[in-house]
Amino acid sequence: MAGQVIKPFGPTIYKGTFSERMRLEVIERSLASSDDASPNLAGNLAQEKFIELSQESGNELTSIIQDYLQQSREMGAYKPKSELKRISFERLWVNHQKKGEWNPPHAHSGDFSMVGYCQVPEELKNEWKFENQQGQDPVAGKIQWNYGQFADHNMTVFGPVDPEEGVIYIFPAWLLHFVFPFNSDVTRISFSTNCKLIY
Ligand SMILES: [Fe+2]
Repeated sequence: MAGQVIKPFGPTIYKGTFSERMRLEVIERSLASSDDASPNLAGNLAQEKFIELSQESGNELTSIIQDYLQQSREMGAYKPKSELKRISFERLWVNHQKKGEWNPPHAHSGDFSMVGYCQVPEELKNEWKFENQQGQDPVAGKIQWNYGQFADHNMTVFGPVDPEEGVIYIFPAWLLHFVFPFNSDVTRISFSTNCKLIY
């Protein structure tokens, strides 16, 4: 008789997409912004800027988060105790990651956090060719999430994940994650923010 595998633990991660309109808006607004976010952040990056989103992009982000919550609810991973009144999120910060820069292991504040990829240069696909990427697991320019104590036969890692333009991930704010440096002389642009669920 066949048994059943039960996997009751562990965080939920959402992978979705956002529009080309929003992708271009975030890049444009981050280039125009002089609001330096780096003193507030964990990253070892020279250029991290706060931006304000347009109403349209704010609505788009809200509906992405709603999709995450609805799917989490359907699979039993999210069980709100009372009615959700609204979803609030902080100002976005936009990371312009350059050669040799990285984001060390860190967590965020709030209930959920997100990262969206606005610019992923083709050169990053060839990072595996560099001499320092010849180990078993080339990681340059990728993101990884870690959860719990490493143990055989259990997944404690999600990644290293390749960034893709127009793709967004949502994850619990407390979940440890980090971004590896790369060698190419290019700029990798991502945005992040934290959300709070107001009941
Ligand atoms: Fe982060």
